[in-house]
Amino acid sequence: MTQASDKAVEGGFRTGAEREEATRLKACFDRNPEAWEKKLENFPKYVRRQNLTRFLALYEIYKRILPVKGSIVECGVFRGFGTMTWAKLSAILEPVNLTRRIYGFDSFAGFPSVGAIDNAGIAAHVKAGDLYADSEAELRELAAINDSTRYLGHIPKVNLIRGDATHTIPKFVESTPHLLISLLFMDFDLFEPTKVALQHFLPRMPKGAVLAFDELDNPLWPGETAAMLEVCGAANLRIERLEFDPYIGFAVIE
Ligand SMILES: C[S@@+](CC[C@H](N)C(=O)[O-])C[C@H]1O[C@@H](n2cnc3c(N)ncnc32)[C@H](O)[C@@H]1O
Repeated sequence: MTQASDKAVEGGFRTGAEREEATRLKACFDRNPEAWEKKLENFPKYVRRQNLTRFLALYEIYKRILPVKGSIVECGVFRGFGTMTWAKLSAILEPVNLTRRIYGFDSFAGFPSVGAIDNAGIAAHVKAGDLYADSEAELRELAAINDSTRYLGHIPKVNLIRGDATHTIPKFVESTPHLLISLLFMDFDLFEPTKVALQHFLPRMPKGAVLAFDELDNPLWPGETAAMLEVCGAANLRIERLEFDPYIGFAVIE
């Protein structure tokens, strides 16, 4: 039997039917003789409900920042779901907002290190190198393709900052004196980089900006909540959630 402390860091709570779902969906996708672009144009057929939920949740978050000045900072890019969702939503929802940039921070080599508090949860085997995804080159190409067809696409939208965020974030903030942030999306999962990001980015967030977390009150990732409690304090944030999404907690800076 799987022990509570053996939960996989990715998809640890999936049922057997949910794991099987991916295999069955792939079989349908592979069996369909139509061209791949026709299959992608009909993506709701093949994409899991949870992934569609995620996309809709990010859409709801993006709508909150439309009237707020400042860029989007994604802390933890991984394979690029969030980063490329922000990029596409930007092109759809506010094509003329050329000054809103999307900054994505990641090692692109998985967790650089893991602290004791990160291993205090039920995924007790979290270790350096977990959540490895060297997606940087692909994402740069995809962002360029997105720029090639959108309005004002000659001004790049996505900026990726590679390296251990506990080092890159302080340097980035210091070297970017114009930075204002309308959306800080915390998704490093771990204590130390979350703490560093909050300490350096919060002073750049005006009233009305959205501070979002992906893993609050999540027993798999206690470090993210611990960093929020240490830097912000729970009583200082009105942490809301979306009615249809179990993960994202967000607060509007007041
Ligand atoms: C949960 S994933 C991010 C998921 C992503 N937001 C998405 O939309 O799919 C966490 C990411 O944080 C990155 N990460 C964690 N700690 C880091 C650190 N200290 N420096 C840079 N990246 C880090 C990992 O490499 C991993 O890609």
